Amino acid sequence: MLDIAKKAGVSKATVSMVLNKRDQSISEETKKKILKLAEELNYIPNSLARGLSTKKTGTIGIILPDITNPFFSSIARAIEDAANSLEYNVILCNTDNEIDKEVDYIKLLISKIVDGVIFIAGGESSSSVKILKSNNIPFVLVDRYIDNYKDEHGVYLLNEEGVIKGIDYLYKKGNEKIVFVKGHENITVSNERLKGYKYAMNKYGIYDENLIFKGNFNIEGGIKATEAILSKLDKVEAIFYSNDMMALGGMKVLLRKGFRIPEDIRIMGFDNIDICGIFEPELTTIGQPIYKMGKEACKLLINIINEVDIKDKEIYFETELIIRGTA
Ligand code: RIB
Repeated sequence: MLDIAKKAGVSKATVSMVLNKRDQSISEETKKKILKLAEELNYIPNSLARGLSTKKTGTIGIILPDITNPFFSSIARAIEDAANSLEYNVILCNTDNEIDKEVDYIKLLISKIVDGVIFIAGGESSSSVKILKSNNIPFVLVDRYIDNYKDEHGVYLLNEEGVIKGIDYLYKKGNEKIVFVKGHENITVSNERLKGYKYAMNKYGIYDENLIFKGNFNIEGGIKATEAILSKLDKVEAIFYSNDMMALGGMKVLLRKGFRIPEDIRIMGFDNIDICGIFEPELTTIGQPIYKMGKEACKLLINIINEVDIKDKEIYFETELIIRGTA
C-alpha cells in the first residue's frame, strides 16, 4: 500500500480509502491512478488486517466430519456456491469425526476472524459449540443437531420420517425380515433413523432387535455389518443401511458371495449421493435435498452475520423415496 501511495503521490490513507471502497471524497482521476497501480503491483489486501479494522473478512468457515463421503463434499460445494454468489469466501475444515480436531479447527477459524461458521458435528460436539458461543461467532448447525444446544440456528432433515417411508415401501413389497444397519451411536441423525426404523417395524408387528446391526457411515462399516448379518442370520429379505456408503459396501459383499440383488435380497440406502445412480444395480435410497440444504444453510448464516431479521431459527427438509434397481 505504501508503494502505491509513493508512486501515486498520495497518502497511504488515501490509498486505503480507495482500496476499501470508502472513496466518496476522492477524485475519479486519483481513484483510477491508485487502482491501476494496485493492479500493476499485484496488490493483494491482507484480509486479517482488514478484519481487525472492520471486524469482517468476508469469509465463512465450513466444518464437516468426513470429506471422503460424497454427502459432505456435495453439501460443502453447495455452501461454497451460495457463499461465492453472496461475495463470501469459504475455509473448509475436515475433522475425520475427531472431536479434538473439531475443536482445533473451531479455534483456528476464530483466529482467522471468519465472519461465521457452518458446523456439521462429528459426534458429541457440545464443547465445539460452547467455544463458538463464548466467542460470539455466528454459526448454523447443519444436518446434525447437538443435544445440549437445541435452540440454535440449524438446517436439518426429517430423518425419522425418511426411514419410516423406506420401511413402508419395503414392507408393502412383501419384506418382513428387514435388517437395519445404523450409523455412529453418538451422532443424532443415527439415533433419529433408528427411532424411525423401530417405529415402522413395530407398526407392522415385525420388530426384532436381532435385525439391528452396528455401522459407522462408511464403506468399510457397510462391509463389516453385512458380513456380520450373513454370519448371524439365516434369512434376510432386505437390508436398510443408514447411509449410501454403507449400502455400497454391503452390496459388494453380497454380490461377491453370489447373492442376486434385488431377487435374493433387497437393498436400501439413505442420502442419494451421486454414485447411487452409477453402480449396477442402481441403489434405491431415501434422498436428502443435499444441495438445497447446503445453500439454505449458507444463506441463513450470512443473514445472521448481517443481522437480517430471521423468521425461523430452524429449517427442516423432507426426504424423498428414490426407487431404482436394488429394491
Ligand atoms: O452419509 C453420511 C451421513 O452423515 C448422512 O446420512 C448425513 O445425514 C450425515 O449425517
